[in-house]
Amino acid sequence: MSASETVGVLVSGSGTNLQALIDATAQEDHPARIGVVVSNRPKAKALERAERAGIPTAVVPHRRFEDRPSFERALVATLREHDVGWVALAGFMRLLTPTFLEAFPQRVLNIHPALLPSFPGTHAQSQAFAYGVRIAGVTLHFVDAGTDTGPIIAQGAVPVLPDDTEDALRERLLVAEHALYPRVLRWAVEGRLAVSGRTVRVDLPQGEHTWAWFG
Ligand code: GRF
Repeated sequence: MSASETVGVLVSGSGTNLQALIDATAQEDHPARIGVVVSNRPKAKALERAERAGIPTAVVPHRRFEDRPSFERALVATLREHDVGWVALAGFMRLLTPTFLEAFPQRVLNIHPALLPSFPGTHAQSQAFAYGVRIAGVTLHFVDAGTDTGPIIAQGAVPVLPDDTEDALRERLLVAEHALYPRVLRWAVEGRLAVSGRTVRVDLPQGEHTWAWFG
């Protein structure tokens, strides 16, 4: 397995996106392999998912470090041990600074449960629901030092139905997340993504798109 196809997944929580990546990359025709799953929270359910799949795990608890740079250096060291070429954030609840990002330039992906640049930050689903948007969605983007401000790779649009609850919308958004993340990870390790300033050029496989409708 070469570094260019080895992905480190960073998690903090339940790991349903991680599960989607585990299931997709277990297929022979998916070019990426998950080399390690790293959590900042020892009790994250996502770790159990990785263990069940036989994927190496590591815990780097942010509270044990005196500052953010030392936490991030430990994260980088853990990923390097596993020869990781790409990093996929999947519900990782810490902001990353240049200390981390400069170790993996334009190699860090994130999924966000809103159509960025609307509703960055935490509780995006509740914000979209409370705002009364008619079309919600999810965004796959490169990570930069801002909060959900990095160049956008792909987006999935999800309708808000008249009698939706916030939970129903959240579930519908997750379906879109789980469909899009493995696809974008494939493009990444196949070298199909080129960042140019704010935007990303995607050398799309035949018949694929950088957007999807989950109506
Ligand atoms: C997802 O909604 C993702 O978009 C956001 O954090 C949540 C993680 O959920 N970044 P899970 O841990 O993958 O279930």
